[in-house]
Amino acid sequence: MTEDVPTVALNDGNLIPQLGFGVWQVSTDDVVPAVRTALEVGYRHIDTAAVYGNEAGVGQAIRESKIDRDELFVTTKLWNDRHRDVVGAAKESLGKLGLDHVDLYLIHWPSPRHGDFTAAWEQMQEVRAQGLARSLGVSNFTQTHIDTIMQLIDTVPAVNQIEVHPTFAQRAMRAYNASKGITTEAYSPLGLGDDLNRPEIVEVADSVNRTPAQVILRWHLQHGHVVFPKSITPHRIRENFRLFDFELDADAMKQIDSVDEGNRVGNDPVTADF
Ligand SMILES: NC(=O)c1ccc[n+]([C@@H]2O[C@H](COP(=O)([O-])OP(=O)(O)OC[C@H]3O[C@@H](n4cnc5c(N)ncnc54)[C@H](OP(=O)(O)O)[C@@H]3O)[C@@H](O)[C@H]2O)c1
Repeated sequence: MTEDVPTVALNDGNLIPQLGFGVWQVSTDDVVPAVRTALEVGYRHIDTAAVYGNEAGVGQAIRESKIDRDELFVTTKLWNDRHRDVVGAAKESLGKLGLDHVDLYLIHWPSPRHGDFTAAWEQMQEVRAQGLARSLGVSNFTQTHIDTIMQLIDTVPAVNQIEVHPTFAQRAMRAYNASKGITTEAYSPLGLGDDLNRPEIVEVADSVNRTPAQVILRWHLQHGHVVFPKSITPHRIRENFRLFDFELDADAMKQIDSVDEGNRVGNDPVTADF
């Protein structure tokens, strides 16, 4: 793993680099150059998903980089229409990625309308048993969804990947994850860019001579979240990686904490109907 990036120990004993690179909404044209740049900059953790349609490009950039597979941490996710065909879906993703395993495989949404997320969690265990994924987790799961799978299957997800950023801090959900030993992965860590212009955040950035994106990402790291900001812009990909040569003091952390106002920028897992 890259020296600069700390790792977080998951509840199954595996390590995950705390900073990665996300590729949601990265087109098939952009994905190879974006991941190539990220790997050149030093990112060793890539977060993709079957539904992003860019697993093949992620795999191509990984192969072209010639970086040892063991140095990389790759996550992909099971889409909602495959909750009853988890092993098949995992193999399909691996075929596109050109990998024999992923480091982390997630149920992307509970999608309760399908009524299958518990069956999916059960089948995920087979994905790991077959060596197709090293760690297993969930995404967009509320406390109720997690309690439901835990009542039936005795394996605690290693991570819960949920929307978290300063204006949507999800304190209760993060505390719940922590109480179960589940690592919180914070998606849309910049609030899709929404949080960057908040005056409180700009003020903190100015005070430490960093950009708003850097102080937001640093806030995540100091809260213990795993993050993977997305960018297709080379200078931002570099900027988002330069987080390990400064720290936020308690006042700066508190000031960023103070902007939490329930500003969800993605879908609500309770009402999402897809
Ligand atoms: N599990 C889920 O349901 C779920 C949902 C959403 C996201 N995710 C994961 O989380 C990753 C990150 O979240 P996200 O893509 O939603 O949003 P994000 O990382 O919060 O924000 C991405 C946006 O911020 C811009 N940006 C990035 N760095 C910047 C910087 N330094 N300065 C100014 N603007 C900057 C990007 O622009 P440019 O690209 O134009 O530079 C892009 O428009 C995704 O890629 C995906 O892997 C998972």
